[in-house]
Amino acid sequence: MSHGEIAERIRLLRKVIQEANQAYYELDEPELSDAEYDRLFRELQDLEASHPNLLTPDSPTQRVGSAPAEALHKHTHLRPMLSLANAFSHDELMAWAERNIRLNPDVATADYTTEIKIDGAAVSLTYEEGKLVTGASRGNGVVGENVTTNLKTIEDVPLVLRGESYPTLMEIRGEVYIPLETFVHLNREREEAGDPPLANPRNAAAGSLRQLDPAMTRARRLRMLAFHVEPLRGSLAATTHHEVLTQLVQWGFRVESHHRLHANLEEVRKRISEVESMLSSLPFAADGVVIKVNPRNLQEDLGVVGGREPRWAIARKFAPDVAITRLLDVKINVGRTGALNPWAVLEPVELGGVTVSSATLHNQDVVSAKDVRIGDWVEVVRAGEVIPQVLGPLRDRRDGSERIFEFPRVCPACSMPVERPPDEVMVYCVNPRCPGRIYEGIVHFASRSAMDIRGLGAERIRQLLDAGLVKDVSDLYRLTPAQLVQLERFAELSAEQLVAAIEASKNRPLSCLLFGLGIRHVGKSVAVLLARHFGTMEGLGAANRETISAIPGVGPVIAEAVTDWFGDPDHRALLTRLGAQGLLLSEPDAVERDGALKGKTYVLTGSMETMTRDQARQHIERAGGRVVGGVTGKTDTLVAGHDPGSKLDAARKRGIEIIDEAELRRRLALTLTTDDGAR
Ligand code: IVH
Repeated sequence: MSHGEIAERIRLLRKVIQEANQAYYELDEPELSDAEYDRLFRELQDLEASHPNLLTPDSPTQRVGSAPAEALHKHTHLRPMLSLANAFSHDELMAWAERNIRLNPDVATADYTTEIKIDGAAVSLTYEEGKLVTGASRGNGVVGENVTTNLKTIEDVPLVLRGESYPTLMEIRGEVYIPLETFVHLNREREEAGDPPLANPRNAAAGSLRQLDPAMTRARRLRMLAFHVEPLRGSLAATTHHEVLTQLVQWGFRVESHHRLHANLEEVRKRISEVESMLSSLPFAADGVVIKVNPRNLQEDLGVVGGREPRWAIARKFAPDVAITRLLDVKINVGRTGALNPWAVLEPVELGGVTVSSATLHNQDVVSAKDVRIGDWVEVVRAGEVIPQVLGPLRDRRDGSERIFEFPRVCPACSMPVERPPDEVMVYCVNPRCPGRIYEGIVHFASRSAMDIRGLGAERIRQLLDAGLVKDVSDLYRLTPAQLVQLERFAELSAEQLVAAIEASKNRPLSCLLFGLGIRHVGKSVAVLLARHFGTMEGLGAANRETISAIPGVGPVIAEAVTDWFGDPDHRALLTRLGAQGLLLSEPDAVERDGALKGKTYVLTGSMETMTRDQARQHIERAGGRVVGGVTGKTDTLVAGHDPGSKLDAARKRGIEIIDEAELRRRLALTLTTDDGAR
């Protein structure tokens, strides 16, 4: 490579690493897996090392750790949170032990502990007089984020310690993690919702811990294991790490249940191979074994290297499964937001017990940074044992026939020009009528976390679009069993069931609808925050950026995406159509309990001109009233539309007040126009 090419490559690597850092730390949406990130990071480090003139202080290699997220309060750890040195082979482990023995010959006869290294997020819990006062994430080791409220939602985190023999001020160090089963479940939900899957359980745990809404953290069902005590006031009775673990359990913590005490390194070696063969059957993601010198006096004597890693502990890491295969092609999938997602078509290869034939390539910059070309032999890993990732090409196997992938300038689904907004990593199709986007949008709308329409899977949606029965999500509510049975693979029963499932979705909470609309940056948790704050679609649609971004957990980027979305007349028209179909455009608890119809019981009969019965019900409920099916002695008012049924006679007989639609509207003081649905 020429000097210019190297400078260009360094620039690209820095950009991609910085974007990955931002996605990981600020947006809680990790973009690259650890293995992918490490590889790019190492390439950058190597290039900078061999071209020191190109090293600049703002390079991501020069930054220590990560800055805590702005949205969360910072917390300075009383003692820095240490990390661990790694040993990738038995020899490296032996070299570690020998170095320790050179530093202190007593280590030669020391015993060791092993614990399985859980792949989660490190936390520090401060206990004062046995009570939990603060819980924090690691951050850069010195300053982390205060996530006390979130940590308190974890059942394994004791709020008050059992027993009495604790230092009056101490920090407990441990790992918060998501069990694999929960992780798989979470990713299935994300996939259904059209969100990118979480790369691995560690990212999932870290992201869950940093949620701004503790209810979201609780929903992730996190667990915690404790492995270390830093006494700050008062001392610890335990003289060995093994005793520390016992002590932690007595106080009420959980510790890694496979931990062992070993008389010597030979036993440690045996244990490591045992654990390696257990790895795939553990209920949590593990990436190695932590080996610790057991006696605490020796730990103290060995101390800490560079203020970062204790000499008395090391992580024996296992290499991830790697496979080598051909990159046959790069394809683009158009997401519901219009984002163009590149993915790799691979020659099928066995990797960790499954056959892998595709892998994500994230975005344009990542494809360039990895320098993978069509026809390349590539290394593939499975991150967190789940999502296949292309690590990079085997450059020396190239024969010149490889083709550089050109990112398309037009949308592969609709052939309209694409755009890359400044400061974004993704390229977007901006055509709102793009069939690719519409399809993905409906898939998202019907998904479990959104409108939860059972039986409306991707294939059915494709059928409905192809048959011209559906152009946007509001058309779903017009479908009849008679139309559906005309289509292939629809029997009478399944047609009726689908129509019923669509009908049932009308009662989904506002947050689900809001999420289902697929507004850029409005994920499930943001949708919950918005729905809770505004209560109605109308309220949200009328809000300006400042109001929206003032909600804790909703930043200016989200606020802008929301106001942009509502600013689009097509979107407003869609909402009107959805309202006209009878969807709830408000949160049930947004009812004005002191509204005009407070405490009144209404019955509806006949059809109305300006709203559906369902909408009338919503309006009445929002104004504090109640709508029941039949006329009884408790009914206050009957609203009679056209062609009223027997309810009208029943009401007359009982002398119950009877009003028409116009009167109802007057009472609701609504300013509805005929085509303005429920707004
Ligand atoms: S001891 C002084 N023990 O691994 C405490 N760490 O890669 C130093 N980890 O930051 C860490 N299991 O988050 C220790 N049994 C264990 C662990 C463990 C997982 C994590 C921890 C640490 C990271 C380093």
